[in-house]
Amino acid sequence: MSNLKKEILSLLDRERFISGQNIADMLGVSRTSVWKSIKALKEEGYSIESVTNKGYHLKNPPAYVNPTALSMLISQSSLFDRVEYFNTTPSTQKEAFSMLPESNDTFVVVAEEQTEGRGRFDRHWDSPGRRGVYISLVLRPDIPISDIIRFNLFISLAIAESIDEAFGVETGIKWPNDIYIHGKKVCGFLTEVVSESGVINAIVCGIGINIFKDDTVGKIPTAISVEEAAGSHVYMDLDLFMKTFMGNIEVYYNRFLNEPFSRIRQDWIEKSVIFGRQLRITESGGTFHGRALDITEAGFLEVLDDDGNIRKVISADVEL
Ligand code: BTN
Repeated sequence: MSNLKKEILSLLDRERFISGQNIADMLGVSRTSVWKSIKALKEEGYSIESVTNKGYHLKNPPAYVNPTALSMLISQSSLFDRVEYFNTTPSTQKEAFSMLPESNDTFVVVAEEQTEGRGRFDRHWDSPGRRGVYISLVLRPDIPISDIIRFNLFISLAIAESIDEAFGVETGIKWPNDIYIHGKKVCGFLTEVVSESGVINAIVCGIGINIFKDDTVGKIPTAISVEEAAGSHVYMDLDLFMKTFMGNIEVYYNRFLNEPFSRIRQDWIEKSVIFGRQLRITESGGTFHGRALDITEAGFLEVLDDDGNIRKVISADVEL
């Protein structure tokens, strides 16, 4: 990834024009190099206006997760060492796992399209090209494996708040791993772990978000895209979303490492969509109905089942 493209991107602004000469002087390169990089950015999907005697101006970022902007974000991140970007891949989760033995790095894997996207319980995750965000985060915290349920609670808040902030919608968290809008699923994530003797070597957290309206995802009656929820007046700025998202992941991951769940419990409960309604809960042992009572410090769901028993649920499929 050319550094010049990244530097030029960070100088381009929506509000004001900047001349090619100014860019060249600031970066100590020729005007021809500036022009070539602007051309390359346009080919990547950036809408950059050039006006005689005024210079360049960023009209719109591209409508997909852009590799130049993303690698800029990752170079500023204190959590991740690098990014691996794919136009198409079977699954970012699969790619992340295959890269784990190569190093002890932390990294993110992003793809424009997945051909074999995978969800929880080995379900298929539809991942049409440039219609969603498909990302796997590889982190290496020094924590016991039992902390993973708490990790999910912090990460779900980070994802939900990022979608809200960047697109002006109101999401809700459906315990344990889904983000909903208007009663439909807009995002799912799965957290997988490589561990040795109960100690984590790597967390691979795969997140899929339906961003744009799409025929494939549109056929699933329980799914929704952010675009459908936000309405056509909202510009779907994926550079802004990724910046918000990476920032929130950093904040909530550090909070996860340093704070008990009780510190975010109230925020999490307010964002949750499972309280006060009848739930159908499927665990490995079978299915039962009940109402959520509480979420424990360790992240277990306390449910009052229809027979009047209080049950602690660790991992399950919850239907509203
Ligand atoms: C679920 O709701 O079941 C979780 C869906 C997770 C999908 C994401 S998309 C990026 C990463 N790569 C995959 O193959 N799966 C996850």
